[in-house]
Amino acid sequence: MSVQEAAARAAALRREIEQHNHAYYVLDAPTIPDAEYDRLFRELQDIEVAHPQLLSMDSPTQRVGGKPLPEFLPVRHVVPMLSIRTETDTEPTGARAFDARVRRELGLAEGDAAIEYAAELKFDGLAINLRYEDGVLVQAATRGDGETGEDVTQNIRTVRRIPLRLTGEAPAVLEVRGEVFISRPDFERYNEKQRALGKATLVNPRNGAAGSIRQLDPAMAAERPLSFYAYGLGETRAWDLPPTHAGVLDALAACGLPVCEHRAVVQGAEGLIAFHARMREARDSLPFDIDGVVYKVNSLALQQRLGFVTREPRWAVAHKYPAEEALTTVEAIELQVGRTGAITPVARLAPVFVGGVTVTNATLHNEGEARRKDVRIGDTVVVRRAGDVIPEVVSVVVDQRPMKADGEPLHAAFELPKACPVCGSAVERPEDEAIARCSGGLFCPAQRKRALLHFAGRRALDIEGLGDKLMEQLVDHAIVKTPADLYKLGLLALVNLERMAEKSALNILVAVEKSKHTILARFIFALGIRNVGETTAKDLARHFGNLDALMAADLDRLQQVPDVGPVVAESILRFFAEPHNIEVIEQLRAAGVNWPEGESVAAANSPLAGKTFVLTGALPTLTRDEAKDMIEALGGKVAGSVSKKTDYVVAGAEAGSKLDKAQALGLTILDETQFRELISS
Ligand code: IVH
Repeated sequence: MSVQEAAARAAALRREIEQHNHAYYVLDAPTIPDAEYDRLFRELQDIEVAHPQLLSMDSPTQRVGGKPLPEFLPVRHVVPMLSIRTETDTEPTGARAFDARVRRELGLAEGDAAIEYAAELKFDGLAINLRYEDGVLVQAATRGDGETGEDVTQNIRTVRRIPLRLTGEAPAVLEVRGEVFISRPDFERYNEKQRALGKATLVNPRNGAAGSIRQLDPAMAAERPLSFYAYGLGETRAWDLPPTHAGVLDALAACGLPVCEHRAVVQGAEGLIAFHARMREARDSLPFDIDGVVYKVNSLALQQRLGFVTREPRWAVAHKYPAEEALTTVEAIELQVGRTGAITPVARLAPVFVGGVTVTNATLHNEGEARRKDVRIGDTVVVRRAGDVIPEVVSVVVDQRPMKADGEPLHAAFELPKACPVCGSAVERPEDEAIARCSGGLFCPAQRKRALLHFAGRRALDIEGLGDKLMEQLVDHAIVKTPADLYKLGLLALVNLERMAEKSALNILVAVEKSKHTILARFIFALGIRNVGETTAKDLARHFGNLDALMAADLDRLQQVPDVGPVVAESILRFFAEPHNIEVIEQLRAAGVNWPEGESVAAANSPLAGKTFVLTGALPTLTRDEAKDMIEALGGKVAGSVSKKTDYVVAGAEAGSKLDKAQALGLTILDETQFRELISS
């Protein structure tokens, strides 16, 4: 290869790799398999080794590689990095107060039109200024005191979501401001990995993000799973400034920068309030922490008119949410025994208001976690409750631990008992597992109660009215031992129970009767087979069509079911190998529990069963949803991206990169006619 050819190839590879980075890290929609990406990356590395003169700052190979620094150099911000005023009134009044202030400053009267706002999330990480010159990332700096920050370019270059080169026409200077943060799942995954290696973990995502950027060795920063969202501008030169803040964010996204999709342009205080409420709902399903939302006057001209007070713009405010973490004390540590015998230590707490409700107990997950966090009776702890998630103890405030006169802690470290606290059976913990279990199986009343509650649960056989308290009595009085016993319940047995009127007893009998008519997927789920959740139960029902086929299946056949691997298959096999379980199933059937059988056998035998399809481009007559329905009705699956595991790609007009990739991988590509032929075969 001549130098010219090498230069051209390197440039093409850089562009292609950055496009894949963008698809993977920013759009969260990978376009090629990892192996193919690695191949491109290595090819570029090889070219750069052979022709060192071709190395450039914006090469994706140069994200990691800087040497540890002796110190960070100061960076003076051309446009100061300001902070925003925080509205701590978490109610709608907080938004109204901001809107009223803005209107007053602008001299608007009551009858004047509503102000337009750009509403977005308040990310919880570290503010960063990215400086792009002629489209290339040349410097990244922290906020510092707002006037002068620290040069953290080397560390920022390791953040794969941050483009090293902007796409499209590049302005002479474009400074982008945004937040570096760590998502919750990334945080958990990172800590898990560190723990497995016996290395230091991060305290929380926020400290993790700030700590990763503010350390001198870029190799360390590269290990951390950092994310970034852009939310504003610094200095710009020769850039066509859009007239609104929302327009600025759109333009940044078009340059390849990650901009959070949870944002909106809204009108007036009522629009702000609705956004605040909507994001509060969405808050718990977001993969990252937010402690509020940010409102900004959308028009940049109005922003300019409003200006600043000291170090805060008059045109923006952060509107907070109630805290999801709070401090309280541990009154006791108790043990809960779950359906599969899993023993969970639970901290009983002095009642505390957190995440919008009063919390009195919080999970410690398992023995390992309880010991790692070293939670003891009397400790002051940080409790976290995010949405519907079970409240958990995050950490202990160690210097507030009650101590004895000799300087030793008043209470001993948590230890798991050797015997189940409910039935006395041995507690077992396989060496490679985190969870200890009671070995009593259905002999253990706690497990029996949980298993029965699971069976009767809303997503299983859905027996209305069979709640915690009632099940407790039914099991304690030995009226119900197995799910089959539920179908033998009589009025007399029920009305003799505490707090059970004849009317409610009758209702329960009706609900039990009603539950007899079910569907196979629910029945399989209700059995409570270890590792078989709702989705797997559905897959199994669809694949086998009837219960006998499932019960007769061996490891190989089980693993032909989509998403069933050796662990799940083993659990299923073990469940049906237990004579007691077969007996209960037979009794249930004898009691009249039934479901339409065999309706999916056709699917199981269809040529589409278990096959993965990718749809791309516009088909001449079918919509994408119609094609998807047809595939799924016949037992096939539809995936979003092409990989080696794709069986068929159905391509229509203007099929783009997915089709290219399918061709590159040598996959079977069908047009609509061929697709219809396959289906009718
Ligand atoms: S705008 C002039 N927008 O909150 C306005 N800030 O005090 C400058 N933050 O440390 C800030 N999310 O890093 C803005 N969507 C958002 C934000 C945001 C988080 C941080 C920012 C700064 C603090 C504001």
